[in-house]
This record gives sequence, C-alpha cells and structure tokens, in this order.
Amino acid sequence: MMTDIASVGPEPSEQDRPVLTTRQGHPVYDNQNQRTVGARGPATLENYHFLEKISHFDRERIPERVVHARGAVAFGHFEATGQWGDEPIERFTRAKLFSTAGKKTDVAIRFSTVIGGRDSSEAARDPRGFAVKFYTEDGNWDLVGNNLAVFFIRDAIKFPDVIHSLKPDPITFRQEPARIFDFMSQTPESMHMLVNLFSPRGIPANYRTMQGFGVNTYKWVNAEGETHLVKYHFQPRAGVKSLTDADAANVQATDLGHASKDLYESIERGEYPQWDLYVQMMSDEEHPELDFDPLDDTKVWPENVFEPKLVGTLTLTSNVSDHHNQNEQIAFGTGVLVDGLDFSDDKMLVGRTFSYSDTQRYRVGPNYLQLPVNSPKGARVATNQRGGQMAYGVDLGEGQNPHVNYEPSITGGLREGQYPTHDEQGPVITGRLTRKRIPLTNDYKQAGERYQLLEQWEKDDLVGNFVTLISQAARPVQERMVWHFLLVDDELGQRVGEGLGITADDVRHLEPLNTQRLSEEELARLSNLG
Ligand code: HEM
Repeated sequence: MMTDIASVGPEPSEQDRPVLTTRQGHPVYDNQNQRTVGARGPATLENYHFLEKISHFDRERIPERVVHARGAVAFGHFEATGQWGDEPIERFTRAKLFSTAGKKTDVAIRFSTVIGGRDSSEAARDPRGFAVKFYTEDGNWDLVGNNLAVFFIRDAIKFPDVIHSLKPDPITFRQEPARIFDFMSQTPESMHMLVNLFSPRGIPANYRTMQGFGVNTYKWVNAEGETHLVKYHFQPRAGVKSLTDADAANVQATDLGHASKDLYESIERGEYPQWDLYVQMMSDEEHPELDFDPLDDTKVWPENVFEPKLVGTLTLTSNVSDHHNQNEQIAFGTGVLVDGLDFSDDKMLVGRTFSYSDTQRYRVGPNYLQLPVNSPKGARVATNQRGGQMAYGVDLGEGQNPHVNYEPSITGGLREGQYPTHDEQGPVITGRLTRKRIPLTNDYKQAGERYQLLEQWEKDDLVGNFVTLISQAARPVQERMVWHFLLVDDELGQRVGEGLGITADDVRHLEPLNTQRLSEEELARLSNLG
C-alpha cells in the first residue's frame, strides 16, 4: 500500500497511539505548553523537553550539496550477465559483482539536477545526476554519472569556474545567461556538452526515462593484472524521453518535483524502473590512431568502433523510508571502487575523487561512512579509525582485541590482507611534471557530429534556445559563440548567427583563443568560415 498521509484509515483510539518521548526516553506529558512561572509568566530555562525539541529543530538542515542539491533516491539490485557481450567477463575484470550470470548486488541510486538548490525545479535545463552505489561483497562501488555522455571541461581545476558560471550571480542571485556564455565562449571544450544540453536532451522528461553515463574513463583489471579502458552506459528500458522548453514551462508551473513524484509513485505501484548496463572497452595504451584522446571526458567513443556490450540490468524496487537519512546523507564518490575496477589517468577523475569525500566530510561529517545508507552491506568493516564527531559504532573486526587500535601488532590487532592477485597493473607511465593541456583537443568535430544526428525539431529547439540565451550576453561573447558554432557546424553557426544578427564576415577576424591550439584541419575550416 502506498505510504501516503491521505490513505491512513479511521482515527485510531487514544490508547492505540504510541506515547511521545524525548530522545532520552522520557515520556512527554505536555507537548503544547512550555513550563512558565504562572500561566502567563516568563518561561523557565531548565525545561529539558522544550530545549531538546527546539535546539534539534534549529539543527535540522545540513548544508545542501554544493552541486546536485535536489535529488531522488531509490533502492534495488543489479543483476549481472556474467558476460561482456558474448565473452566471459572474467577475461577483462575480476570484479566479483560482474562475475556470474544471475548474480544480484543491492544498489542505492540517486538521480539529481545539478545547479538548483534542494527545493528547485526538476524541469530545469540542467544535466541530471545518475549516481549508483553497489553494495558488493568486496565493499561499496560508486558509479557517479550523468544523463549526458560528456562534460563541459576536461581538467578538474576548472570545475569551480564552470559551476560558478552556471550558478546564480553572486549579487542578483539569478542564473544569468550572460555569465554562462561569457565562460563557455572562452572554453572551447564545452561545445560538445552545450550542443547536448541546449537540445531537448537537456531537460529529461523524468528520471525513469533518461540514460546514465559514467562519462569519465575507468579501467577494468583481470586476474592477471591486465587492464582495459572502459566507459559505462545505462540505457532505460522505458526509452529516452525529453521535454522542450515549452513542455518544461507547463510542468513546472504546477509542480517543482514532478520527477521525484514520478519515480516514487511508479515504484509504489510496483512498476519497477529498469536500465541495462553496457560497457565500451579499448586497450589500455595510447591510441594515436584516434582523432580524440580516450581520457578526455568531452568526447564519446564512437559506438561503431567500440561497441557497447551488455553486462547486466539494474532494477529499482523500493523507495526511501526517510528523505534526510537516505537522500540528504547518502554520499557517493568516484574513489569508491572495488577490486577489479580502477581509475584511469583522466584529469577530471582524479580531481573528482578528491572532491567528493572532501565535501562529504564537511557536509555530512567525518563519520559519514558509519551511516547505514553509506556503509557496506555485504562486506566486513574492520578499521582502526576511532572517534570524531558523531562516532556511532566501533569498527572492530571479529576477535579483534579492543585495546589494539593500531597496526602492526602481535596482540590481537588487525592485519593486512593479501592482494587478491597482482599488486602491479597497467602500463608503465613516464613523464616530466608539467602543466599542459592534452595534445589532442579536437573540440569541434564531435559537437558537429552530434548536431548532425539531431532530428530537425531538435535542431530547431537547440538553435532557438541558443539564440534566446546568448542574445542576453555581451556582443563580443555573442560573436565568439557564433565563431565557435561555425567551427562546430556551418549550419549551426549560420542559424545561431542569423538569430543574433551576426554573419561569418563579422567574426572572421577573430583569432583562436590563446588557451587553444587548432589542428591543421580546424585551421583550414577557420580560413573558410561560413
Ligand atoms: C556531486 C564535484 C564532475 C556527477 C558532486 C559534489 C561535488 C562534485 C563536490 C557534491 C557531492 C556531495 O555533496 O555529496 C565534482 C568535481 C567534478 C565533477 C570536482 C569535476 C572535476 C562531475 C561529472 C559528473 C558528476 C563529470 C558526471 C559524470 C555528479 C553527481 C553528483 C555529483 C551525479 C551527485 C551525487 C549524489 O547524488 O549525491 N560533484 N563533480 N560530477 N557529481 Fe560531480
């Protein structure tokens, strides 16, 4: 039955209702009146019940996530095929959750919008988060993805800047297109993401009908220590559905939380949402034959060359029992991997891996991993970590001498485990310490291919959205955006330019940005702009 306040039956008798207590376990005899000197008199300060109640209320909120503040959480399981397409998966990864056909692993998932606060509209044009926590027998694995396959930037050092440009203006506190496109016009690697985000894909119809992508490149490791580069893709069984700006305006006119509602109600009805998980793979080495860098998260891997192959299915079967405990306090991070899965050298991924647990120690507290939603379910936890604010349990191993919270020890302390197989894996890497952009940026080609793949109505929607928003930016920003779009695709550049009253001749004189180095091919396109 739906847990809905409106569906509760007739009023139960006084005696059948449980008695209210304080958190100390004291029964509360009067929850309507403070203790005062006389009926109208001043309140007394020793009133423990009142102080506990009001001071806990004063602390009800924790800081909202700096990004992805609004979200919906659900629980379910992942069922593995045991295969990567037709091949046994153990050839590529020793991760146990993938190993055998039919193997089930519990999951928690959080879908989210990115920029708005925690009560903001779920019909906003914004990427959607798609974060999955797999409670495996080897501990937790978090796959923290988005509904769009690429991202705005390729180096984590630019993340605070891209987010500041998208967040509200620090003075007007409004999201300002002029600020967004000021930043994007100086960030050519964002073009591929922009063509996605400002097309209808930028407003998913709801959470059940959107894709999920790992976006960053990870590695799989097999029992021999051999590594492959991989990308993860979730495909919704219900198909992909999006909203135009006009559809979205109608939805948010009456409901800011339609996507959370849709997910919650479909699970309560027993219509369990499902996604198939596909994996793309390539050898773990440099790939000079490709016209993009496989560690660059502004790029997709062409599916005709790197075929996504099925590895399992995700099914969501239950809702949260408490929003704060299981949604506000759930914590995902890209550093949370299990044996058989590894990082790549993707320069976003390392930055993300620091950022998630750093923010969670601040946002939730240093013992956030002790909370039930974050702690492993199938795996043992035995650490020598003690204390800290809100410490709840002690991670004692079975048989551990509770006096010994250090390692090494021969008097009953914890010991190190054995590496499952190899302690060294992947290719040998050498290089000088440096600060450099990756050599192969190719910022426009895939953005142009994406534009060409759109249906006509999607192209029209994209162009219309760009014109409406970019027209609010300063003229030099408008001109630079048209210059980029002409390099992305002649038609896109011309149509946006037409809407803004800017021709190819108006922008031909612009030099490439000093942060970019165009390839021969791009320089040739530049000399024939429009
Ligand atoms: C949330 C940082 C890029 C997906 C967050 C949070 C931070 C963060 C600080 C808040 C976490 C929390 O409070 O629990 C970064 C940094 C990035 C980056 C530094 C780049 C260097 C990305 C990318 C994706 C992504 C490329 C998609 C693949 C998410 C998701 C969440 C999130 C889904 C919400 C997790 C949840 O539901 O709790 N990110 N992020 N982020 N990020 Fe990122």
